[in-house]
Amino acid sequence: MGIQESVSDLTPNTGEAPWYHPTGNEMALFEQCHARGLAVMLKGPTGCGKTRFVEHMAWKLGRPLITIPCHDDLAASDLIGRFLIQHNGTVWQDGPLTRAVREGAICYLDEVVEARQDTVVVLHALTDHRRILPIDKTGETLQAAPGFQLVVSYNPGYQRMLKDLKPSTRQRFVAMDLDFPTPELEARIVQHEGGVDSATANGLVALAGRIRQLRDRGLAEVPSTRLLIAAAALVMSGIPLRDACYAAIVSPLSDESSMVGALRDLVDATFV
Ligand SMILES: Nc1ncnc2c1ncn2[C@@H]1O[C@H](COP(=O)(O)OP(=O)(O)O)[C@@H](O)[C@H]1O
Ligand SMILES: [Mg+2]
Repeated sequence: MGIQESVSDLTPNTGEAPWYHPTGNEMALFEQCHARGLAVMLKGPTGCGKTRFVEHMAWKLGRPLITIPCHDDLAASDLIGRFLIQHNGTVWQDGPLTRAVREGAICYLDEVVEARQDTVVVLHALTDHRRILPIDKTGETLQAAPGFQLVVSYNPGYQRMLKDLKPSTRQRFVAMDLDFPTPELEARIVQHEGGVDSATANGLVALAGRIRQLRDRGLAEVPSTRLLIAAAALVMSGIPLRDACYAAIVSPLSDESSMVGALRDLVDATFV
């Protein structure tokens, strides 16, 4: 049972909406996909808002959300379910995908490219017009309940050389690009999520813009909105701005001393 999952039963218009600021037409597109039962692939770098977007849309559409973080020993049975041996015999236990199919939930497979190909294949029959899930071990074939939707996230840059999704899998999804937002919008997000004033938020976003230009010059991963929010949170708890940037932005991005030096110089130049 090596699976962590998080299940939240979200009912429409009760409780607070997970705050999400749209960056384009992704909300309308997602709603249409949901209405038509189309599976969605969210593409974009780490920390650009994919998870928050799904949480927000699940709330808005009034569907439960079942999130499955993918990893390379995730087996099909981790998704579908298994027989458990108990003192009086064996009982079948649904996996998270099966539960989502029965309940009409939104099932979010985070970082789907991490999962093995033979695991991903179990999704195929759910992504076409049949919307079925065959459960070999019980002989059952489930028809997805209304409201069921498959959503996967995928970071195109990350480990591209090592892993990629098969074209036959990719073509089963409507893809949405969720890249980093414009500087104005990103500053608003950092301000909202990090609690800092607009001058600090703008400064952090300007710093990110400078660092992101180093993408092709030896920096494997560029700072995400998430890192900027972490720096902002440290500032709000009293850490001086530059120290917050070194700790929350520079160190997570690189261990290489010349790169770290260059990044720290950018911090110092941004916040003189
Ligand atoms: N468009 C957005 N609206 C609201 N918050 C955002 C947005 N983009 C990023 N964030 C913030 O950035 C954090 C990281 O985003 P997350 O959804 O976890 O990224 P991903 O799943 O793409 O790695 C979120 O917790 C949220 O605070
Ligand atoms: Mg995520």
